Amino acid sequence: MKIIVGITGGIAAYKSPELVRLLKKAGHEVRCAATAHALEFTTRATLETVSGVPLYSDLFAGNATSTEHISLKDWADLLVVAPATANIIGKMASGIADDALSTLLLAMAPQRVLLAPAMNSQMWAHPALQRNLELLRSWGVVTVGPDDGPLACGTSGTGRMSDPAAIAAAVANGDWTNGDGGQRLAGERWLVTAGPTYERIDSVRFIGNYSSGKMGFALARVLAEAGAEVELVSGPTSLSISHPRIHTERVESAREMYAAATKAFPACRGAILSAAVADYRPRECADHKLKKQGSEGMTLQLVQNPDILATLGAMKAPGQTLVGFALETDNELQNAHSKLQRKNLDFIVMNSLRDAGAGFGTDTNKVTILGTDGSSKESALMSKEEIARLIVNTVTAS
Ligand code: C5P
Repeated sequence: MKIIVGITGGIAAYKSPELVRLLKKAGHEVRCAATAHALEFTTRATLETVSGVPLYSDLFAGNATSTEHISLKDWADLLVVAPATANIIGKMASGIADDALSTLLLAMAPQRVLLAPAMNSQMWAHPALQRNLELLRSWGVVTVGPDDGPLACGTSGTGRMSDPAAIAAAVANGDWTNGDGGQRLAGERWLVTAGPTYERIDSVRFIGNYSSGKMGFALARVLAEAGAEVELVSGPTSLSISHPRIHTERVESAREMYAAATKAFPACRGAILSAAVADYRPRECADHKLKKQGSEGMTLQLVQNPDILATLGAMKAPGQTLVGFALETDNELQNAHSKLQRKNLDFIVMNSLRDAGAGFGTDTNKVTILGTDGSSKESALMSKEEIARLIVNTVTAS
């Protein structure tokens, strides 16, 4: 993994280089980001020596239009703040970004942040700090520690930063995935459909669409990382995924996807259908390559494909959750609401082709998640991985 170790101004910062060393030893790529106060307790030279790369500590290093916080958040899989002072926790909870590390924290998805708090025990017990942490946890931030024991101020109590080895173990165990040690969905089976479908015209041609499968594969990964078993039914795509809890079934046409999805669904806790399924297929498929004939055009007769989502909606048993996608070009909200009802869904994820960077083929997406309970959650433009986390967190919350 690519990990940023963020260091803030507490005495425990003298242990941060050891954490960097352990993470590197475990095979991770590590970069450091420190606040000015952190550098009172540890040094730039130490952090740069153990990480082997320049320290990120100055928002305006190089030039005044520096966007290193954005390139760093794109680079990193995880940001571990150790030690995390009451101050950085308060800033993160309030969205304050007034130096390099706090700006990076605001750019990172909260689900990719692990905090190792360290402070005096009375600061730890303060309602403001506890409220801030509760808020951060509700966004998916994970915390490790603090531990009980002697504190720098001469007293003893809760507030010691966890040992670097314990923090490194929390990273290795995937404790940061989904805010729950990767076990929140343990024992649940989820169905995900992904990619396009190809509808054969003849032995060499098909009707398809531009879906890349990226959204569905990201959903499968996030569900599996949260502990679920995943049945991933994918149309033709160049993507592949390897995870012990993801069982991938490759299909080509809508009818094949229908067969695989309807077979898998009854044993599932829920399904998220992100595939871009062709609504129509050619009435006949020639078993040879069709030849051009004369100088006229040709007419292809199409028939409707089964609607997998509507079929699962009709099959849905109490306790099952069904999530569909809607890619609309006009009247998005109205169409999404009516689809939610018509197909007996619990949630619909609406993405509009009007948003630049959203939809087919891109690495990013921007969505609104509508629930039958009337809820509506709008995302920013984020990576498909981050969108997948938002969707999974939303639809598995109840
Ligand atoms: O009605 P519409 O095709 O816009 O609905 C989109 C949603 O329905 C997506 O979740 C898609 O995966 C699903 N769908 C399906 N089977 C079809 C067509 C769409 O499962 N034949």
